[in-house]
Amino acid sequence: MGIVGAGPAGLLLAHLLHLEGIDSVIVENRSRQYVTERVRAGVLEQGTVDLMIQSGVGGRLLKEGMRHEGIYLNFQGTRHRIDMAALTGGRAITVYGQNEVVSDLIEARLATGRPLFFEADSVSVHGFDTGAPAIRFQHNQEPHEVRCDFIAGCDGFHGICRGAMPHRSYERIYPYAWLGILAHAAPSCDELVYSLHERGFALFSMRSPGVTRLYLQCAPDEDIDSWPDERIWKELCVRLSTSDGWKPNQGEIFQKGITGMRRFVAEPMRSGRLFLAGDAAHIVPPTGAKGLNLAASDVRNLALALTAFYKSGREQLLDEYSDKSLRRVWKAQRFSWWMTSMLHLSPEGNEFDHRRQLAELDYVTSSRAAMVSLAENYTGLPMD
Ligand code: FAD
Ligand code: PHB
Repeated sequence: MGIVGAGPAGLLLAHLLHLEGIDSVIVENRSRQYVTERVRAGVLEQGTVDLMIQSGVGGRLLKEGMRHEGIYLNFQGTRHRIDMAALTGGRAITVYGQNEVVSDLIEARLATGRPLFFEADSVSVHGFDTGAPAIRFQHNQEPHEVRCDFIAGCDGFHGICRGAMPHRSYERIYPYAWLGILAHAAPSCDELVYSLHERGFALFSMRSPGVTRLYLQCAPDEDIDSWPDERIWKELCVRLSTSDGWKPNQGEIFQKGITGMRRFVAEPMRSGRLFLAGDAAHIVPPTGAKGLNLAASDVRNLALALTAFYKSGREQLLDEYSDKSLRRVWKAQRFSWWMTSMLHLSPEGNEFDHRRQLAELDYVTSSRAAMVSLAENYTGLPMD
């Protein structure tokens, strides 16, 4: 198996294949330090956590991950708790940084002795429609070619695999973005707080008992230099504080960045012997915390299909891979769209839209059926 990209999708796929005795080569164009330090996701669904534990890479996750059985929705100055575990028969999410997931998977990969190339240049994919797939790249100025049975395009949204195959795409770029920070401050609440305020969306999250992760809605072309720390804290406090006096603890900001928001789906996720997985095939806005979890469920499907192929020559699961994965992707798109539109102020919106958002939040926090729906989607629909 040739795998392009050492993000969560590529590394987890390689690990699941290794457990079945299937060889792979991973080709990544960035450095090890870059991929392990990139600050992105934080919320793992129950199914993603189970997959990591069952496949033997959940040791540190079990020790350091923070299991959350509920989340808060905050609007009009009041926090409303959604008791996800009670509503779903015990399902929860775990807060554990994506960079920690990637570090654990890189350790596991290196321990197998199987190849993982960092800082590969000019990566390209060939022959996947002719039965002789190959990945070509330069490494330390030397040309390399990996000849393989199949290629997995796990190279994220800006990778090269998707563009190499025919597909149809569906895309929307949102007219707002998230400004995210990490701060040395003890989380002032045990669970995440999603907040709709008349000045825009804000999110309270965390990474560890000493680190708070916070986001606020901003314009997509916002200049980060116009956000000194003081302005960020002021805006976060206005948008998150509740009438009972709760607000985030403040501390030294040690990382900040702006992330645009889009939704995107490429269909199908396969061309011949090239399979796309994770962000290479789809992007969801981060409000539903689904991107990394979709990457995990794609590679689980792909690993099962490849294992069946190598064990018995059966191609049925490979043929079903794209449709099966896309079914889950579209459900995650629906949920992420719903969370996003309920919680963000759209520059195209008006007073009616804001009142409708408040009515939606009122409904979600008072109707048991609506709470169950939120809880079952947020903790993750079962992987079949
Ligand atoms: P990536 O992580 O993008 O990995 C792709 C890899 O391929 C990279 O290492 C890249 O360097 C490499 N690559 C690219 N091009 C090439 C090439 N030409 N050759 C070789 N290698 C290449 N998801 C959640 O589930 N929960 C959350 O809470 C959450 N929060 C988020 C918050 C933010 C601010 C952001 C930006 C995202 C968030 N996500 C979240 C989404 C999540 O981070 C992504 O969905 C996830 O990284 C997808 O993993 P991937 O392996 O498919 O892609
Ligand atoms: C995070 O902690 O980074 C995080 C949490 C929830 C989201 C997105 C990101 O919806």
